[in-house]
Amino acid sequence: MKLWSGRFKTELDALAEEFNDSLPFDREMYREDVAGSVAHCTMLGECGIISKAEAGAICAALDGIRADIDCGKLIIADAEDIHSFVENELVRRIGDTGKKLHTARSRNDQVATDLRLYVRAAIDEAVGLLKALITALIERAADERDTAMPAYTHMQKAQPTTLAHWLSAYANMFLRDAQRLIDCRKRVNVLPLGSGACASTGFPIDRELTAKLLGFDGVTQNSLDGVSDRDFVVEYLACATQIMLHISRINEEFVYWSGEEFSFIRLPDELSTGSSIMPQKKNPDVNELLRGKCGRVVGALAAITTVMKGLPLAYNKDMQEDKEGVFDTRKTVSLSLRVLALFVSRVEFNRDTMAKAAEGGHSCATECADYLASKGMPFREAHGVTGRLVLYCIENGKTLQQLTLDEFKALSPLFESDVLTAVRAESAIARRKVTGGCAPRETERQINAVKRALETL
Ligand code: ARG
Repeated sequence: MKLWSGRFKTELDALAEEFNDSLPFDREMYREDVAGSVAHCTMLGECGIISKAEAGAICAALDGIRADIDCGKLIIADAEDIHSFVENELVRRIGDTGKKLHTARSRNDQVATDLRLYVRAAIDEAVGLLKALITALIERAADERDTAMPAYTHMQKAQPTTLAHWLSAYANMFLRDAQRLIDCRKRVNVLPLGSGACASTGFPIDRELTAKLLGFDGVTQNSLDGVSDRDFVVEYLACATQIMLHISRINEEFVYWSGEEFSFIRLPDELSTGSSIMPQKKNPDVNELLRGKCGRVVGALAAITTVMKGLPLAYNKDMQEDKEGVFDTRKTVSLSLRVLALFVSRVEFNRDTMAKAAEGGHSCATECADYLASKGMPFREAHGVTGRLVLYCIENGKTLQQLTLDEFKALSPLFESDVLTAVRAESAIARRKVTGGCAPRETERQINAVKRALETL
């Protein structure tokens, strides 16, 4: 039954009905819808807008409806949207008293409230899962402070670093994601109920009470804005997009690290898949999916921003398009974070391969230039001398570590025997003690800083 059939002579066309209905997807918010209604009804009773007995009967029936949906006894069907479904079922269960629930309320402020509750739960879930992922990253980092590996720029070996430094980089990225979500939550956690259809309500309701009952920090300050604001959806999806971008980036590295050419990691059997034709294959499907899942979340962000562009005040039905992207994003983000945390805790690092790679590509050339600079040669000149030394290495098939002291000295008299150790990866790593650097003690400090930040979340 429609909530609005009074002024219509004929029923809605079947195709138009299918097009208009949101029940096939907004059923996802049934818990939020019931919770919002229970709070609204309790407030109506407290304010004397309906009697306490009526409020009690309605709330008890609403709790029963939620419990029956939870256990599968009540199937959500045959209604325009989840709000109509719950209200119809309420009236079916308790008769006319149920018809009082919608006093001083519109589906416009109701749906905005439901979605805020849903997004708030999605944020809390994601923050918890981000914490677990960050913990997995720094736990692995603690064991890899001395594992040398190449740092890349332009995907070419650039300077030696450590695996712990690399892991801690991603821990910092995901930490920002958690902090961003927590900041976003402040703007999500504001109650729009009481805005009515658009111009609020004439009933003497107590919006602060409803807010308190639902755990909101406050109430929206303008009813036109209250029903039509979807900034919180845009903001949540932007935060989610940023998480998925980071997930995509780390998994791109895992994908090529698992290939024979790199061999920096061994994929755990339980987190990789085979090929139907090539018996030798062990594919990084899980990591590729984690890299690719970003697309649908970016899509949800693109969709809501396009829907909201140019919408006049206040509620417009276009806004019904706000939900599916949010639902899909919550599932995508949660599942991706869980799978990635599992992968991070299980992946096997090939320390020797990484360490061997760390000195390749003349990656200690900066070290050599720094050596000359610390002996007084202006850095730009030291850069030129070292460039010529690298050219000498390339032309003679040598690495910087294979050069003799005489070969060094041929390019500058400032070179002394200590240059032979200065150009080793361990020295390059050990010298980078500056805040943010890859020296083992400094990385330990970074890991501890992330740990402390986690406690404040
Ligand atoms: N299903 C609608 C939505 O998701 C609920 C609000 C309906 N309001 C209205 N004026 N038709 O936006």
